[in-house]
Amino acid sequence: MFHDLVVQNAQVVTSGAVSSCDIGISQGQITALGIGLTGAEVIDARGLIAMPGGIDSHVHISQPSGPGIEMADDFASATRAAACGGNTTVMPFCLPEDGKTLREAVAAYLAKADGKCMTDVSFHLIVKSADPVTLGQDLPALIAKGMTSFKVFMTYEGMRLTDAEILQVMDVAREQGALTMVHAENEDAIEFLREKAERDGRIQPVHHARTRPVPVEREATHRAAMLAEVADVPVMIVHVSNGAALDEIRRARARGVRVFAETCPQYITLTADDLDRAGFEGAKWVCSPPPRDTDEQAAILAGLEQGAFDVFSSDHCPFRFADPAGKDAPGARASFRNIPNGIPGVETRLPILFSEGVSKGRISLEAFAALTATNHARIYGLERKGAIAVGKDADIVLWDPAQTRTITQDILHHGSDYTPWEGFEVTGWPVRTILRGQTVMLGGVPVGTAMGQHVARAKTGARP
Ligand code: URP
Ligand code: ZN
Ligand code: ZN
Repeated sequence: MFHDLVVQNAQVVTSGAVSSCDIGISQGQITALGIGLTGAEVIDARGLIAMPGGIDSHVHISQPSGPGIEMADDFASATRAAACGGNTTVMPFCLPEDGKTLREAVAAYLAKADGKCMTDVSFHLIVKSADPVTLGQDLPALIAKGMTSFKVFMTYEGMRLTDAEILQVMDVAREQGALTMVHAENEDAIEFLREKAERDGRIQPVHHARTRPVPVEREATHRAAMLAEVADVPVMIVHVSNGAALDEIRRARARGVRVFAETCPQYITLTADDLDRAGFEGAKWVCSPPPRDTDEQAAILAGLEQGAFDVFSSDHCPFRFADPAGKDAPGARASFRNIPNGIPGVETRLPILFSEGVSKGRISLEAFAALTATNHARIYGLERKGAIAVGKDADIVLWDPAQTRTITQDILHHGSDYTPWEGFEVTGWPVRTILRGQTVMLGGVPVGTAMGQHVARAKTGARP
């Protein structure tokens, strides 16, 4: 068979194995794996590793963030950065603006993304209200259209749901075949600490971290797992930042609760000391849960080594630093409470895990592929994605495992004006990203057209 494209001589990471072979691609799909394949176009990938294109299942793009606040990325810049970082699919959240329904929000997001994306896109929903229209009409309709996962919050006033409401949402997930993702932090405990800190004049960015300590996440993680147990559904605990929360997940799993776990680059590389830099600088690292300390980094790394985590995502949530519509929002210098939460990271997720995980000998290439692509596809129902296998979309990233780079803002493509990893050194770098057979990044440069599409997903809720 003569293929449209053949990637020759790479070390190919397929699901569960590494082998040296060629990849044959026709009409955007992988059509053969073998030796001596021929095609109209040939990429010689000798010395490179071919991985499934990264799937980042936790990104925030163009999300409403409060009056006067704007995210630093639209769909064009976020997916350009994603492609340059070795990703072929991103999964942003649809958050309804106040007064709008989830269905209206989805229509608005699809319009915002249409024709702009350099990666494929598949939306999660955010459920911020357990009203009858959302539960009885919007969720079933949107799940039927392939948006088969949604996030609920135990924190953030205006977004958080009560335990009773989370149970109602989980019940819809169980009936309709969707997966509930939980942001697990105890808002009442945070507010108690935040008010005290403000009363005492502790208003600098570092107090964001100090008022969201490990116990608030540990307790909420325990509660989220208990709610999933009661509702008899699987649950994804997103952005796990510390060992105590991970232990709650391990204990729940030992009881037979179906708990998936996600962690992110910030929890293996950054600490709360980053928020303690002089002046207002620490605002660059304000995100929730906050980065912890080196002991917690070690606990999260150990969890990655032991296979306790299912997915490694970025939680890309970019704001500009020197901008009153970003981190320097009105009131942000008067109290950390007013600093928009979130950091940019869609472009740096894969190099950081490759370097800290694979290059440092902590995880295998197969584990890297699972944590960055295969498990995201399996858990969230992206049936054509996440593996280099015949019949799958030809979503491939070629890695140079020997290339060392220093991460700096000027080599990145996101819309933010800084990176939290300025000066961070990595070994291993993505050199070519291929989306459905078309190159979208070559040598660090975005190429081609905005060919990304919205991908509907299968029903979810499978056992871990
Ligand atoms: O600080 C963060 N992580 N902002 C994004 C929203 C969220 O909670 O994931
Ligand atoms: Zn969250
Ligand atoms: Zn997030």
